[in-house]
Parts: sequence; C-alpha cells; structure tokens
Amino acid sequence: MSTLVVVGIQWGDEGKGKVVDLLAQEADVIVRFQGGNNAGHTLVVGGQKTIVRLIPSGVLHAGKVCVIGNGVVVDPQVLVEEIDTLQQQGCLSDASLLRISETAHLIMPYHKAIDLARERLRGEGRIGTTGRGIGPTYEDKMARVGIRFVDLLDEEVFRDKLSHNLQEKNIYLGSILKEQALDFQQIFDAYCRLRDRLAPYVMNASRYLHEEISRGRKVLFEGAQGTMLDVDHGTYPFVTSSNTVAGAVCTGAGIAPQFIHNVIGISKTYTTRVGSGPFPTELFGPEGEKLRRDGGEFGTVTGRPRRCGWFDAVVARTAARVNGLTSLALTKIDVLSGLPTLRICTGYEYNGRHYDEVPPSVQVLERLTPVYEELPGWSERLTELRSLDALPVNARRYVERIEQLVGVSVKMISVGAGREETILIRPAFF
Ligand code: GDP
Ligand code: IMO
Ligand code: MG
Repeated sequence: MSTLVVVGIQWGDEGKGKVVDLLAQEADVIVRFQGGNNAGHTLVVGGQKTIVRLIPSGVLHAGKVCVIGNGVVVDPQVLVEEIDTLQQQGCLSDASLLRISETAHLIMPYHKAIDLARERLRGEGRIGTTGRGIGPTYEDKMARVGIRFVDLLDEEVFRDKLSHNLQEKNIYLGSILKEQALDFQQIFDAYCRLRDRLAPYVMNASRYLHEEISRGRKVLFEGAQGTMLDVDHGTYPFVTSSNTVAGAVCTGAGIAPQFIHNVIGISKTYTTRVGSGPFPTELFGPEGEKLRRDGGEFGTVTGRPRRCGWFDAVVARTAARVNGLTSLALTKIDVLSGLPTLRICTGYEYNGRHYDEVPPSVQVLERLTPVYEELPGWSERLTELRSLDALPVNARRYVERIEQLVGVSVKMISVGAGREETILIRPAFF
C-alpha cells in the first residue's frame, strides 16, 4: 500500500507537471484533488510539449488511470477540449482510463463572468486571477448552491438548480457588476451536450481510490498551484480559492489520512509568481530579467510574464512544515547558470522582529526586509548532467544549503524541461 503526494511549495508553476509525468512511470493511478483549469502543467517528452489543465500529468503514459477528484472544480467545456486533444495524440484510448468524481463541482458561465467583472472593478487592487471562474465556483460550493456532476446527470435537478442560480446571478451581474445577463437556454443546452460527452467517465472516485490503495496499487496525487497560494496558509487574500496543501488530498480525493504516506514538495531553485500579491525576494533589475528570459517565465495559462526572484527558504520552510514534506524536488537549476553570485533568503526582518516562517499579514510581507546569504554561482551548462557528482561544486553547495535551511532532503534535481533531464538522487519515491 503506497501513495505519494506532489505539491508545489511556492506560488505555483514550480514544475509539478514535469515531476508528476516522471513519477507517473512508477504509479498506477494519478489524481488531481483541488484547483481547476487555473492550473497549467507542462510536460515535455521527446521534445514535444503538452500542457494539461485538468487531466492529471500522468496521462501520457499508456495504461495509467487518471482521476479528477471531488475537490477539483471542472469547466466541462475545457475538459472536453482537453480530452479531444489528448485522444488525437493517442492518449486516453479507453474510457476506463479517465474517472471523474460525481461530486466534483462545475464551473458555470456565470462564475467566469463574475470572476472577470470583479477583477475589472478591483482595478489596481486586483488579485490577478486567471479569470477561469475558480473563486466564484468554490464560493458557491461553500454556500451550498454549487452544481456537481451528479446534479448535471439528472436533467430535472440540473434544470432547477441552474434556473434558481441564474436568477440570482443575473441580478448580481446586472445590478452590481454592470454586466450582461446570461441566457438560461443557451447554458442549459450547452451543458446537456457536455454532459453526454462526460457521463461515461463520472463515478464514485473516493470509493474507487480507497479500493485501489487497499489492494496495493500505487497512487500519485498531483497538487495544483502552490502552498503560498493556499486559501488558509498562503499570502491571503492574494491566493487561489482552494486548499493546495497535502492535507487537502483527504478532502479533495475522499481518502483517509492514514493513506497518505509520502509527500514530495516541488520548488524552483529560485522563485516566481504570476498575478498580484507580496513577493519578498522579487528582483526588479537585470537578474530578474535573466531568470525570466532563461527560465521562459511566462504564464502557461494566461501568457503573463512571471515575476522572478531569489530562492526563499522562509517560504520553503513554512511549506515543509505545513505539508509534512518527506522530500524535496528542485527544478530549473539550469536557469541559474551564468549568475556570478546567488542569494538565498534565510529570514525576514520587520520592526525589530525576526521571522523564520512566513507571517500572515500582507502589510508585514510587503514591508519586511529579506535577510540574504550569498553563495558563489557557476557558469557551466547543466542540462546534460544526470548525476549529483557531475554538477559543478558550487551548484552542489547551493543544493546542500537549501537542504539545510529547509530541513528536508532533496531527492531529485531537474536540469531541463524534458522528462529525462533529471538527476535522481534518491530514486525510491513510493
Ligand atoms: P507547473 O504548473 O508546476 O506544472 O509548472 P509549469 O508547467 O506551469 O511551469 C514550469 C515551466 O518550467 C514549464 O515550461 C516546464 O516545461 C519548465 N521546466 C520544468 N522543469 C524545468 C527545468 O528543470 N529546467 C527548465 N529550463 N525548465 C523546466
Ligand atoms: P499551477 O497549477 C501559478 C494564481 C493567479 C492569481 C491567484 C488566484 O500551474 O501551478 P485564481 O484564478 O486561482 O483565482 O487566481 O492564483 N494562480 C496560479 N499561479 N500557477 C498556477 O497553477 C496558478 N493558479 C492560480 O495568477 O494570482
Ligand atoms: Mg503552471
């Protein structure tokens, strides 16, 4: 019996897709448990790039089962498009290879309209959401007016819920947000067509996973976003609307806590963030430009340039504790080549106080001073290297220092976007 949880431990885009694709070789089942198509996970295999939004990053491996758990919010239109694209690539050849929880909530057109309109009205104070309707969908879930797959499958239930919700949403859209009202029949017809496409995949995913884990199958849980975007543990309110931490696997996939055995945290060897919100180690000069250029740091979902900065051990340490990390995977170390000196943030100072973990106040986070330690860089290209010993000594020292500061051992170092561009240090993951 063995499971492995993969979580991002920064502000998302840490390279979770690449790592999950690699680890999926060993797994039988790969599961998404939170978030929605705000996620964009990039897989590069044989030079070919695939971006997945809702379907777990194990999908390129033949015969692996991909599960969308109840904690995910699903835009059915995006999901159908993703299935079509993947099927054209020869994936998901059999309907049994994709399973969708019957209690996952649906992103509706009014959720997207509300998300976009609110961001527009917020102006300078906007969160910088992906505009995919994620927040409004989770709000409705908590307000107990959400529409789940099980509701969509029953046409009368769906008609009632949609009609009731749309009456309220149209008043809100028109009077408060100054947006156009949405048409019931259009949404109803479109969602009934999508229902017909998706119905074969819908099932009791919680029970399925319980049975699979109990009979010894290896199950990999794929986090989306990152710990600093967690609605409880991140830089609130500049966060996403779900719990992104490892604990969310229990609620978002419907499995018991004793089924969680290993948790690997994914972190870039520097830091990036898309959207607004505090970012203590952000770089505004040529070093930040270099990271953005060499790291190709442009959003996978929205194409926005990612903000770039130094590695922040305070963020990683906080995430290690909250997630109960049993190991770390560091990505994009190849991007650091050519920087003569590297900096790691080891703590924060504010108002005469020292912080070794991320404080909860945005006001403090925006004003604090990061405490840096300097390490010598290296100029060699790292992408072709496959063992720790082959790394330049300064790159090894950099990794060791991160390990010490975070207190978790590094099991994997990624040296390029490709599946094989990886140094496996301690290859037992499950
Ligand atoms: P995710 O959301 O955590 O899956 O990450 P994204 O896919 O949004 O962003 C990570 C980006 O970095 C993608 O373009 C990956 O192909 C790329 N990538 C992942 N690992 C590495 C690496 O070690 N080196 C380089 N140069 N690129 C990487
Ligand atoms: P992956 O899984 C990076 C950010 C948005 C915004 C905030 C809220 O690819 O790592 P939302 O649309 O979720 O309400 O936006 O969260 N965000 C991400 N940033 N990677 C992601 O996913 C993200 N998903 C959401 O930019 O700041
Ligand atoms: Mg991403």
